[in-house]
Amino acid sequence: MSLDCSRSAQPQTALDMIPYMDAVRAVTGKMPEKPRCFVLTFGCQQNVADSEKLAGMAVDMGYQIIDIPEGADLILVNTCAIREHAEQKALSVVGQYKHLKEKNPALIIGICGCMVAQEHRREEIKKSYPYVSFVLCTSVLYRLPQYLAEVMEKGKRILRGEEEHTVAEGAPIRRESTYRASVSIMYGCNNFCSYCIVPYVRGRERSREPAAVIAEVKDLVARGYKDITLLGQNVNSYGKDRADGYAFPQLLADLDKIEGDYTLHFMTSHPKDATRELVDVMAASRHVAHSFHLPLQAGSDRILTLMNRHYDCAKYLDILDYMREKMPDIAVTSDIIVAFPTETEAEFEQTLAMLRRARFDMIYSFIYSPRKGTPAAKMEGQLPHSVSADRMGRLLALQNEIADAANSRLVGGTVRVISEGVSKNDASVYTGRTDQNKIVFFKEPVPEGEWAFVKIDRAAAFALYGTVEK
Ligand code: SAH
Ligand code: SF4
Ligand code: F3S
Repeated sequence: MSLDCSRSAQPQTALDMIPYMDAVRAVTGKMPEKPRCFVLTFGCQQNVADSEKLAGMAVDMGYQIIDIPEGADLILVNTCAIREHAEQKALSVVGQYKHLKEKNPALIIGICGCMVAQEHRREEIKKSYPYVSFVLCTSVLYRLPQYLAEVMEKGKRILRGEEEHTVAEGAPIRRESTYRASVSIMYGCNNFCSYCIVPYVRGRERSREPAAVIAEVKDLVARGYKDITLLGQNVNSYGKDRADGYAFPQLLADLDKIEGDYTLHFMTSHPKDATRELVDVMAASRHVAHSFHLPLQAGSDRILTLMNRHYDCAKYLDILDYMREKMPDIAVTSDIIVAFPTETEAEFEQTLAMLRRARFDMIYSFIYSPRKGTPAAKMEGQLPHSVSADRMGRLLALQNEIADAANSRLVGGTVRVISEGVSKNDASVYTGRTDQNKIVFFKEPVPEGEWAFVKIDRAAAFALYGTVEK
C-alpha cells in the first residue's frame, strides 16, 4: 500500500494561501447570508489545534462557525487514524451527512486529518462517499483555501494525497478558549513504533523556529491566556532537525523567561528523549507545570523491543525516579497498550508490576488495534478480543486503586486550580484543574479562567473535592 502523505519534509510558509482566500471570499461575499461552517474534530490535541486553524481559515474566508452540522454550507471533519474505532466513528458520521447534502446540494463536505493520508481510505471515500468534495491531509492544512477555491470554481472532487510536508506559519487560528491554548511546536514523528500509524500519516519530524514559538506564546500571555500547552507528537525531540543544537530544554527555558501569570504544559514526550537536562529545566522554572505525560506502553522489555520503543523498563524508571526526586509534587501520567501481538500472560503481569512501581496519577489505556501498513499488523500472534478485554479490565482495576491512593495523599492540602466554570454534569458545582491536570470540584463560584486555591476535603480515583480558600 502507498501512504503517500508521508515522504520528505519541505518546510515553507503559508503565504501562498492568500490568493486562494481571496478567490473563496469572492464567492462567500456574494452569498445572501454569511455562509456557515461546522468543524468536527476526532483524535488528539494536535487535531484539536489543527481544527482551530481550519476554523480560523474558514472565518478569514467569510464563514461563520456554527456548532451543529444542520444548516452548514461547509462541513470539515477532522479525522484520526490511531485505532480502527476512531476511523469507523468518523466514517459513520460522514455517512450521516449524506442527507444534509441531499437537502442542500451546495453544501461542501471536506474530510481532513490523519485518516485521509491513507490511500485505501481515500479510495473508500471516492467510491462510497460520492457527496464528499475533498480530502485534505494534515501535512498541507494551509491548502484549505486552495482546495475550496478549486471545488467552488471547477466543481471537481479533490481526492489526492500530498507529498509535501510543511511547517506552515501564518495560518489564522480561531481559539476555542479565552484562557487555555495549545501551541504546536513541531509536527510529525520519526519513531516508527511498530504499532503506530502516526509517522505514516503525519510525516517526518519538523520543528518550528524558536522565534515563532516564543512570539506566539508571548502574544498569548499578553492576551491573558493562563494555561498554555506546547504540542508535538514527540514534543521532547523538538529541535533535533536543527543544525544549531537548540533543543526542547532550551526552548522551555526561553519560554519560561516570558513574564506573566501563566502555566506551561507540554505533550507528548517519548521516554527515550526524556533527559535529566529537561527535568532540571522544569524543576528550576517558574512557569512549567510539575506534570509529565510519559507513555510507557508496556512493562515487558521484550514487548518494548517488538514495539520499537528504544528504551527498557530500567531506563524508564531511572528518569521517572529522577523527576520525582527533583519535583516531589509532580504528577506523571502514561499510555498503556494491552494485548500487543504475542504478549503473554506473564508479560502482561509485568505491565501490572510496572504500574505498581511507577504509581502513575492516571493512565490512558488502549487495546492494541492493528493498523494497515504498520509492521505490528503483520506480526504472528495477534491476540483474540477475549484476552485483550480481560487484560484491559484488570489493568483498569489496578490503576483505579493506584490513582485513588495517589489522590488520597492530597487530602488536607491546598492546590491551585484554574476554574473551568460550572460543571457540565452538575450545575450546583464548579470544576477546575490543578497544574498537575487533576480535576477538582468545589461549590464556591470562581469565574471560568480564574485561578483559585482549593483545600482538598475528599479524593477519588478521577477527581478531588474541596473548598475554595479566601
Ligand atoms: N506520540 C505519542 C502519542 C501517540 S498516540 C507517543 O509516542 O506516546 C497516543 C497513544 O495511542 C499512544 O501512546 C499509544 O498508547 C496509543 N496507540 C497508538 N497506536 C495504537 C494502536 N495501533 N493500537 C492501540 N493503541 C495505540
Ligand atoms: Fe506513534 Fe511512536 Fe511516534 Fe508516538 S512516538 S506518534 S506512538 S510512532
Ligand atoms: Fe489520531 Fe492523528 Fe492524533 S492519528 S491521535 S489525530 S496524530
